[in-house]
Amino acid sequence: MRAANQLSVKVVLDSSGPALQQVVKAGGLYLIKPNIGELCRLVGAAELDSACVAEAARELIGDGKCELVAVSMGPQGAVLISPDLADFVPAPAVRKRSTVGAGDSMVAGMVYALAAGQPLREVIRLGVACGTAATMNPGTELFRKPDVDKLYNWLLQTMPRESAVPG
Ligand SMILES: Nc1ncnc2c1ncn2[C@@H]1O[C@H](COP(=O)(O)OP(=O)(O)OP(=O)(O)O)[C@@H](O)[C@H]1O
Ligand SMILES: [Mg+2]
Repeated sequence: MRAANQLSVKVVLDSSGPALQQVVKAGGLYLIKPNIGELCRLVGAAELDSACVAEAARELIGDGKCELVAVSMGPQGAVLISPDLADFVPAPAVRKRSTVGAGDSMVAGMVYALAAGQPLREVIRLGVACGTAATMNPGTELFRKPDVDKLYNWLLQTMPRESAVPG
């Protein structure tokens, strides 16, 4: 991460426990993707309701730890927090087979959208679509692109671009 920072390479981190703690402490990350439990442990909170999630994430951003925080909440979906946006994306209801790799798939979707220069709203929407699509397959099987396309379009229809909530 130090080397990446020297080269101005953006770092995306998905980790937990002491590893997450240590790297975040060093600061300078672009995006972190804790699930809600990981965020609680990171900020030393017993639990966080939806209002407090944005507050906790903004504190990390304000302290220069990272620029963006994507907090995943399993079947509830995820929220992407930047200094001026808290964008919640609900997870579409699907027939769940296995959640193994859901978080990893979500990160993959977000990195893909970021690399393509997509706006943050599309970044978190594609992340949720990939994460949820991964749960539709058994065992360690990850997502299938046709499922991602279907879920992404469903999210586009149910939550139009303009409805991003400031703050
Ligand atoms: N039961 C579910 N139903 C629908 N979508 C789900 C479900 N579980 C996970 N997801 C999707 O996957 C995303 C990431 O899931 P989660 O919050 O469980 O990540 P995680 O705890 O980091 O997972 P991992 O075990 O892969 O580390 C969620 O935001 C959601 O889009
Ligand atoms: Mg995870």
